[in-house]
Amino acid sequence: MTDTLFTPLRLRDTEIPNRVMVSPMCQYSSTDGYADDWHLVHLGSRAVGGAGIVMTEATAVSPEGRISPNDLGIWSDDHADALAPTAEFISEHGSVPAIQLAHAGRKASIHRPWDGGNPVLEEDGGWTPVAPSAIPYPRDEPAPEVHKLTTDEIQGVIDDFRVAAERALDAGFEIAEIHAAHGYLLHEFLSPVANDRDDAYGGSFENRTRLVREVTDAVREVWPDDKPVFVRISATDWLDDRESWDIEQSVRLAADLERLGVDLIDVSSGGIHPDQQLPNAGPGYQTPYAERIRDETGLAVGAVGGIRTARHADELVRNERADLAIVGRQHLRDPYFALHAAEELGEEAEWPPQYRRA
Ligand SMILES: Cc1cc2nc3c(=O)[nH]c(=O)nc-3n(C[C@H](O)[C@H](O)[C@H](O)COP(=O)(O)O)c2cc1C
Repeated sequence: MTDTLFTPLRLRDTEIPNRVMVSPMCQYSSTDGYADDWHLVHLGSRAVGGAGIVMTEATAVSPEGRISPNDLGIWSDDHADALAPTAEFISEHGSVPAIQLAHAGRKASIHRPWDGGNPVLEEDGGWTPVAPSAIPYPRDEPAPEVHKLTTDEIQGVIDDFRVAAERALDAGFEIAEIHAAHGYLLHEFLSPVANDRDDAYGGSFENRTRLVREVTDAVREVWPDDKPVFVRISATDWLDDRESWDIEQSVRLAADLERLGVDLIDVSSGGIHPDQQLPNAGPGYQTPYAERIRDETGLAVGAVGGIRTARHADELVRNERADLAIVGRQHLRDPYFALHAAEELGEEAEWPPQYRRA
């Protein structure tokens, strides 16, 4: 039997009702990292809309791990309490609640996009970004100072991810995703573009991937055996002109992560440097990377990038190119993407009874 977009997927003991996942998308709408009514309504609507997995935006494991001062966070029990009603609502409406655990690294402390996206000055509540090396992310305006993490501080980051995962579990999330993509902290360690360390966390493939492996180990240690862990990676830096992160290393890393108990690789790309050369950012441009990781490791993968239609999402699963169709911006346009997809594909669309008269 061919799997389709509406074939359930079982990962460990978690039954995902269909293959549509709401991609993590920053809402830049928190005060001091707290989830509020926006998160409940925004993520809740996508659960009502039928997505199999509803994932939170990047949720910072520490205050300095936020991209902007308005990012969501989970660095205290109170933050987890604020997220719990959202996780519960998602579950009650038949979707699997997932959380993306994140640290922004050297790309931290900038204003949210609609406030200009420039670095936040210290007097306006900004902070010094931390990174594997004191190499700032290149920006048009003078780059703020970046603090190179010491090995003790790296241990602190690993602990932050571990405790954040424990809190996320208490808050009711079923899937934990580790954000190791888009030029944020964990990706910065992976890529020689941002990592020129000469200790155990830099240089060789083994050393550059150490932090991602240690964070994964820490999260897997506290995340129950019956629940899945995902890792989002950038499969390539799109910087063939220099020493950088690429698909060959991604395949190798994915195999290592599988051995550490990761259940699915969420395959994105780019974000480490503004010189990146995207050859063709059309629909599905990242899918060949997902497909390659799936083929070469046997691990489940999610494809993301430019998926806007039911047919495209269905094709990915039907042709065994990916196990999940991860849909971002189309979910901003249409919270009911999955229900509309079901109708279009001739599947039963379970609209909530409150809406059936329409
Ligand atoms: C508003 C917005 C916020 C985003 N925030 C995140 C995020 O928090 N974490 C992440 O991994 N990717 C983030 N992304 C990237 C998306 O998850 C997704 O990978 C990207 O938009 C491509 O998918 P799409 O073409 O379906 O939108 C964001 C994208 C958008 C448009």
